[in-house]
Amino acid sequence: MSSLVLVGYATRYGSTQEVAETVAATLRECALEVDVQPLRKVGTLAKYSGIVLGAPLFMFHWHKDAHGFLSRHRRELMERPVVVFVLGPVHDPHDKKEWEASRAQLDKALAKHPWFKPIALEMFGGKYDPAQLGLLLSKMAGKEPASDIRDWTAIRAWARDLAAKLEPTLP
Ligand SMILES: Cc1cc2nc3c(=O)[nH]c(=O)nc-3n(C[C@H](O)[C@H](O)[C@H](O)COP(=O)(O)O)c2cc1C
Repeated sequence: MSSLVLVGYATRYGSTQEVAETVAATLRECALEVDVQPLRKVGTLAKYSGIVLGAPLFMFHWHKDAHGFLSRHRRELMERPVVVFVLGPVHDPHDKKEWEASRAQLDKALAKHPWFKPIALEMFGGKYDPAQLGLLLSKMAGKEPASDIRDWTAIRAWARDLAAKLEPTLP
């Protein structure tokens, strides 16, 4: 099997894509070959020795492209190491209750795929920009201030740790 890793992402407002690109760049620094692609555009996983799947939580649910990807590629995902990162909480300063609620949303989403056993799973803080919202969502969101609590140091450190886990095991 080749040592090509897929970093597949879902995004609505672009912040998860930026995290995916940083994870990919870090894996490349660790000498892995990496493709970065939106999850919905990924065809077969045959050429990949490992998968990183990144997707945000949105309106109490995990991004639908993450669910679609898991359902579409179930067999191939069962045969490869898969790592997951999720973006969710956005409050600044850190809000413990918000993180717990996001984690519960994620656990509920993952429970829909009981066969799915990622070798690592991490939730990162996300980015919130009311200027990106349409009229309806903006009304629902109220006066929530803009924030960006993505911790790039933690994201890069996490990706460096992954590199060893995603390297193909020699026969
Ligand atoms: C309208 C809206 C709803 C959101 N709902 C949730 C949610 O239910 N749970 C959560 O943890 N995060 C929620 N978030 C935070 C997003 O996960 C965060 O903004 C993330 O960085 C968005 O990723 P993206 O830029 O890749 O779309 C929401 C954000 C927006 C704008």
